[in-house]
Amino acid sequence: MQQLSVVILAAGQGKRMVSDLPKVLHPVGGRPLLAHVLATARGLEATARLVVYGHGGAAVKTACSGEDEVLWVEQAEQLGTGHAVAQALPLLDDAGVTLVLYGDVPLIRAETLRPLVVAAQRGSLAVLTVELADPAGYGRMIRNEQGQVCRIVEDKEATAEERRLREVNTGILAVSTAKLRGWVASLDNDNAQGEYYLTDTVALAVRDGTPVEAFTVADPEEVQGVNDRRQLAHLERIYQRRQAERLMREGATLLDPARVDVRGTVTTGKDVLIDVNVVFEGTVQLGDRVRIGPFCVLRNAVIGDDVTVLSHSWIEEAEIGPDAKIGPFARLRPGTRLAAGVHIGNFVETKKASIGSDSKVNHLAYIGDAEIGAEVNIGAGTITCNYDGVNKHPTTIGDGAFIGSNTSLVAPVRVGKGATVGAGSAVSRNVPDGSLCLTRAPRKEVANWLRPVKQTKD
Ligand code: UD1
Ligand code: CA
Repeated sequence: MQQLSVVILAAGQGKRMVSDLPKVLHPVGGRPLLAHVLATARGLEATARLVVYGHGGAAVKTACSGEDEVLWVEQAEQLGTGHAVAQALPLLDDAGVTLVLYGDVPLIRAETLRPLVVAAQRGSLAVLTVELADPAGYGRMIRNEQGQVCRIVEDKEATAEERRLREVNTGILAVSTAKLRGWVASLDNDNAQGEYYLTDTVALAVRDGTPVEAFTVADPEEVQGVNDRRQLAHLERIYQRRQAERLMREGATLLDPARVDVRGTVTTGKDVLIDVNVVFEGTVQLGDRVRIGPFCVLRNAVIGDDVTVLSHSWIEEAEIGPDAKIGPFARLRPGTRLAAGVHIGNFVETKKASIGSDSKVNHLAYIGDAEIGAEVNIGAGTITCNYDGVNKHPTTIGDGAFIGSNTSLVAPVRVGKGATVGAGSAVSRNVPDGSLCLTRAPRKEVANWLRPVKQTKD
């Protein structure tokens, strides 16, 4: 295998985004446009990935700092696509081939690009084209009588007749790096826009006797770029449709494939059911037969088999064991770990809480910095008072304990195994195993109580 360098052009300012954020950092599916292209390049097993950046360079590099082995090349002035590639060439090795991609064309698939790389490896200049109903604005593919591509003419320079051609240049091409180096060195900017056009390399290849192979992408959506927020929204929908289709292929029923959003990576088990308006963020793993009700958000979560999440629940950085039942209106915050069969009901908030199997927190409770055993029942309105205004303290509850409604557990505190806490208690000292703890104020009762009456002035 020859070396493959992928050069990603990303220096454009993206004025039409009307944004302080560089265009290639605007997200699709929760990830910057550029991150999608870098991932595709990685999928092609590129030996080198280069990004030609211009505007907002520091921000772009920071946003992609999680990516290892990306080479950054600055193009201080945007003098055209040919000039952009010229900035990268000093870092490229003549032994291999170069594939040119675009930071603002995020949906291109590795499968579509592979044939271009193969063609380049056998000595051709491979260009990716697309047939568009409305080709206005794009470079047109000019073919000779034999149907071979002989040059690309930019929209601004095209004759009226050429403008009628519907086969356009996507900008994506692959070719031997050594040949590219020679052609790019001889580009000029003697054209309507005063730019160095990468597209002029096609005519140079024909002059040199290098075969030019045009590959036509079947689905125009793959090569759609982002110039404004309307196009960004359009690509977001295309991306989400692809995610929904993948989830369905892998065994999830989506009650409406148009109303589920994946902003990260979701893996699904089989016979999963996802209701409408569910948002997945980060890395989410769904076991078999998981059911997710409408209007839920799941971010970085592992959901076990047979779990039911009822509507309007928020689950973040949490691990849910099998057969658990969550919601409706539950909020599981980071560090929540639920064992098998746990029930978390409405208006319950958990944070850094580990809850043992078959325990129930069914209504209106806050469980934070807590270690709760198995088969514990936590009554409505129970609060772990974990914060003294400065520090956080832990609450521990043993297996089989019963915490009555409206209990305040003033941490640090431990409730022993099988212990019972009476409703309305404020527990600030440990409760021994098996005991009853009750801090209720004694009841006072006055029979035949007469309420005060209003004094009238006469
Ligand atoms: C380019 C192609 C055109 C093709 C179209 C597809 C050329 C001369 N024309 O036109 O044939 O149909 O793309 O969208 O190549 N960029 C840089 N540095 C520069 C100039 C551009 O990094 O100096 C980047 C931009 O950020 C953008 C991409 O290259 O991602 C394309 O640039 P753009 O100005 O949009 O090219 P077009 O004129 O639309
Ligand atoms: Ca463009």
